[in-house]
Amino acid sequence: MTYNLLKGKRGIIFGALDHDSIAWKVAEKAHEEGAIFTLSNTPLALRFGEINELAEKTGAQIIMADATSVSDLEKVISQSMEILGGKIDFILHSIGMSMNVRKGKKYDELDYGFYHKTLDVSAISFHKMLQVARKLDAITEWGSVVALSYVAAQRTLFRYNDMADAKAMLESIARSFGYIYGRDKKIRVNTISQSPTLTTAGKGVKGIDSLIDFTERMSPLGNANAEECANYCVVMFSDLTKKVTMQNLYHDGGFSSMGMSLKAMKMYNKSIDQAIENGDFEFDD
Ligand SMILES: NC(=O)c1ccc[n+]([C@@H]2O[C@H](COP(=O)([O-])OP(=O)(O)OC[C@H]3O[C@@H](n4cnc5c(N)ncnc54)[C@H](O)[C@@H]3O)[C@@H](O)[C@H]2O)c1
Repeated sequence: MTYNLLKGKRGIIFGALDHDSIAWKVAEKAHEEGAIFTLSNTPLALRFGEINELAEKTGAQIIMADATSVSDLEKVISQSMEILGGKIDFILHSIGMSMNVRKGKKYDELDYGFYHKTLDVSAISFHKMLQVARKLDAITEWGSVVALSYVAAQRTLFRYNDMADAKAMLESIARSFGYIYGRDKKIRVNTISQSPTLTTAGKGVKGIDSLIDFTERMSPLGNANAEECANYCVVMFSDLTKKVTMQNLYHDGGFSSMGMSLKAMKMYNKSIDQAIENGDFEFDD
């Protein structure tokens, strides 16, 4: 069902790589809800070719950019205003990458070059995006900017590694910039903290299947999938959420508020005793 929630709105969607990407689903939903927008991703991502299919389907133009480059972001934002015929109403930052995760570097053995890259790609790029948009006066009053986060910003989740630090920083940028942008221009800045999801980035986290299984069982409503996340993003871009800003909004079936569930409590002692008895209890980090 569609509601025309974004009728007449112009946007920029960063981070659609393939059919699994959260940004891909957001583009599909935003299109269905009446928005026009541009798509942006890195030259490498464009070489995979799938984004052309999304562009065709949604009538969007693609603008290549490395989101860590201020000049690339200036190009994306100014060209988007030209292409779409006016200021921008919404921006999605759906970008994350850690070479430490990819290369299996543990948190107490981080490569600092990779660490800087993680923070630049996954968090500082959000600041750059906001700063460039503000400098160009590119976003309309009551416009909405959303970045995607993860509960590892608040809680330690094994193997999420330096991405946890990036997400904590991302959420802090949303608050700090949200204050300035709200005060001066009535522009909203929020993060949506999404359940673990099987995307290219998600699959990069070793053991993601177990994590997905765990959060599915621990969340009263179960995990939220990418399409459901896209629905939430659309609502955040719409005029129905005009007074929501500087928030980290959990979209995780209730996981972030859980401590122990009845099911988990019942299983916990039983399975640990069993594992010790079997002699197969190993700590592996
Ligand atoms: N998948 C999950 O479990 C999950 C959970 C919570 C939050 N998130 C967040 O959602 C966002 C989108 O990830 P996804 O799960 O859809 O995976 P994805 O791999 O489909 O998307 C990640 C995107 O980041 C882009 N990217 C990487 N480096 C870039 C750069 N330098 N400049 C511009 N773009 C760059 C990639 O090309 C890709 O399109 C990320 O911020 C991710 O951390 C994902």
